[in-house]
Amino acid sequence: MKFENPYRQDFPLIAKNDCAYLDSGATSQKPGVVIERMKRFYENENANPHRSVYKLSENATILYSNARHTVADFIKANDDEIVFTKNATEALNLIALSYGNSVIEKDDEIVISIMEHHSNLVPWQMLAKNKEAKLKYLYLNDDYQIPDSELEKITSKTKIVSITLVSNVLGTIIDVRKIADIAHKNGAKVIVDATQATAHMSIDVNNLGADFLVFSGHKMYAPLGIGVLYGKKELLDNMNPVLFGGDMIEYVYEQETTFAPVPNKFEAGTQNIGGAIGLASAIEYIQNIGWNKIEEIESGVMNYALDKLSSLPYVEIYSPSNREKQTAVISFNIKNIHPHDTASFLSSENVCVRSGNHCAQPLLRYLGLDSTCRATISIYNNKEDVDRLVSAIQNVYNKFKKYIER
Ligand code: ALA
Repeated sequence: MKFENPYRQDFPLIAKNDCAYLDSGATSQKPGVVIERMKRFYENENANPHRSVYKLSENATILYSNARHTVADFIKANDDEIVFTKNATEALNLIALSYGNSVIEKDDEIVISIMEHHSNLVPWQMLAKNKEAKLKYLYLNDDYQIPDSELEKITSKTKIVSITLVSNVLGTIIDVRKIADIAHKNGAKVIVDATQATAHMSIDVNNLGADFLVFSGHKMYAPLGIGVLYGKKELLDNMNPVLFGGDMIEYVYEQETTFAPVPNKFEAGTQNIGGAIGLASAIEYIQNIGWNKIEEIESGVMNYALDKLSSLPYVEIYSPSNREKQTAVISFNIKNIHPHDTASFLSSENVCVRSGNHCAQPLLRYLGLDSTCRATISIYNNKEDVDRLVSAIQNVYNKFKKYIER
């Protein structure tokens, strides 16, 4: 059947609710297997790892370390290069507060793109201010891409380049490898924000040329409150922790403390063990489907949506012209209608899209926009979701035609 998508049934919320959920970029729905895995942990396996010798606690230690291994394998890293965090925001802040704070000096340069989410912008802005360093931006061309000429801003003064792999507003896929090669030639380290990418494409930290890479679990079918910081071992070894307390120490004396080896050095206090196990289960869910299938389904729905939306003359779309350079995210506006109004009308027809500045105010300002509506596509979406979106947009048009055509 034309609109069949066998994966919809895997997600209880999608299967039970009559809504077109097009906001997985904000947070994805969770498959039943992940929910069941979490339930099993809390019902049968819950204990605090690394703390005690009784069996439940020892088993929790094993489950937590297996989860770390699953994550490491997912991005082609080693287990001791994976630090669990609350989310990508916390991971980026950790890098800025620890690595950034130790390497950035007065007049050094930090390079990011104008497309960054606030979480990959504000920590660098704070660091640059504190150190009297310079924060430089790679800007976009009219096709929502970073032209090569912008990469000349990466120079021998650059110490850090922090860049998103996929824009959470435009869906643009950035050629991170090209940027990383230029950064490395200039002696800079490269941080990759893979938050909007991990549900949609396979990630290999080595192929990307990433020195650090971060993502959040909740946008890739895992529970809320679990994130990942990948860092090259030699970098993590030489970094100072930023949170202090239990489990991150080796010895504590009245006036001195020595720290545990990585990754524990960066995981102070009881961690989100259930979340880490849920993330590992979400990764297994993705791996069972396979990237080919995921890409086939998602690009089919995205292309269908782009075709349909671009046939409506009163809809403005903010996407690169080459669809190969875009994944899962479509920002748009109905001319002369505020995106919040559009999103409210869509909501009245059970179509869920995000509206606003998407935590990327500098990008929106750069594009001369206040805000947009944003539809994001996931493995459980189908063409019927797109038809519902388009039909709801047509209803907005029919209602407000005289304002739209003014
Ligand atoms: N960072 C999330 C988004 O882009 C919340 O929607």
